Amino acid sequence: MSNVQLTKEQENTLIDMSLEARNYSYSPYSKFRVGAALLTDTNEYYKGCNIENASFGAGVCAERCAFQKAISEGHQKFIAIACSTDAETFTTPCGICRQFMAEFGIDLIVILVKHDRTTKTMTLKELLPEYFGPKDLEAFNK
Ligand code: THU
Repeated sequence: MSNVQLTKEQENTLIDMSLEARNYSYSPYSKFRVGAALLTDTNEYYKGCNIENASFGAGVCAERCAFQKAISEGHQKFIAIACSTDAETFTTPCGICRQFMAEFGIDLIVILVKHDRTTKTMTLKELLPEYFGPKDLEAFNK
């Protein structure tokens, strides 16, 4: 559980923006469209989509796309991310994205969004409980 409570407006905006971002997905290989919308601590929103590549390993997930856009615009604190796919079941962020996001706060709210707009809300901590993060290196360097 996270201490932060999203307003209905923030939650709806995140859901809508993640579904919209899915439309920009470049996924000719997997055909698996993913959209993400990220809310910063300054109440700004950044969208992201998965971007695949003919050299498969060069592709990027929607979650990291949104984070990279926000971080490169000066943000480092985040409240919530919504992740949308076309799947019939809830899709959780992949392991690399979980690790990437954990760097910026394990209490991030993660809203999983199905194509029919149904949602399941969890925290990054629930997705990556025994995470490795900045705290581990801080403790080591003391
Ligand atoms: N994908 C994401 O965008 N986010 C995830 O967390 C899971 C996977 C993308 C990567 C690839 O373009 C496609 O979904 C199939 O793996």
